[in-house]
Amino acid sequence: MSEKPDHQRPEHAAFWDKRFAEGVTPWAASGVPQDLMRHAGTVSGTPRILIPGCGHAREAAWLAERDWDVTALDFSSAAVAVAARILAGSPVRLRHDDFFTFSETAPFDLVYERAFLCALPRKRWPDYARRMGELIVPGGALIGVFFHGDDPKGPPFGITPVALAELLAPWFTLEDARKVDDSLPVFAGREEWYVWRRRVS
Ligand SMILES: C[S@@+](CC[C@H](N)C(=O)[O-])C[C@H]1O[C@@H](n2cnc3c(N)ncnc32)[C@H](O)[C@@H]1O
Repeated sequence: MSEKPDHQRPEHAAFWDKRFAEGVTPWAASGVPQDLMRHAGTVSGTPRILIPGCGHAREAAWLAERDWDVTALDFSSAAVAVAARILAGSPVRLRHDDFFTFSETAPFDLVYERAFLCALPRKRWPDYARRMGELIVPGGALIGVFFHGDDPKGPPFGITPVALAELLAPWFTLEDARKVDDSLPVFAGREEWYVWRRRVS
């Protein structure tokens, strides 16, 4: 049997290009998740934060307005074009790059996750966890909204709370978990806000 074309395979930028170009983005929020706003209020200073698979990058703009040092990254050129319009005039560093291969010289204090892990085919999840472990400074954190579920079809590809804890355990300890109240319909009832602290040793 022949393999599906790239625009039907979410591990390829062409899959996401097609959806952004057609404006079919049911995952895209019009604002900033309330849990991110609440959490940002607990963080002192102006951390260096990465937002991988940033899509429209509205959170990036909001965090940069608070003087956080924000890098937003996406491998879809169509997503980056949309984000560039939203970020016009913002100091956010917007990169057209692949999360798994982009070169970075110094680690981040924080990485913000929303609808990124669930955009990746499950075979890529061990690489996701390893990369997060590499990119986040010891004592820093992986924060954000994770999508729960176990339906084999996706995206979104849900993860169970137990599988998420197992995936991240080599690098992170769980600091906070709470149900999300302001999910979009496509994620409703199945999202949780997490703070995963990067182990120091
Ligand atoms: C479901 S969308 C979520 C976008 C955004 N995080 C949001 O909450 O609206 C997934 C995004 O991840 C991007 N993406 C998927 N795999 C990627 C990779 N390996 N490197 C960078 N971006 C990736 C896609 O292009 C897409 O913009």
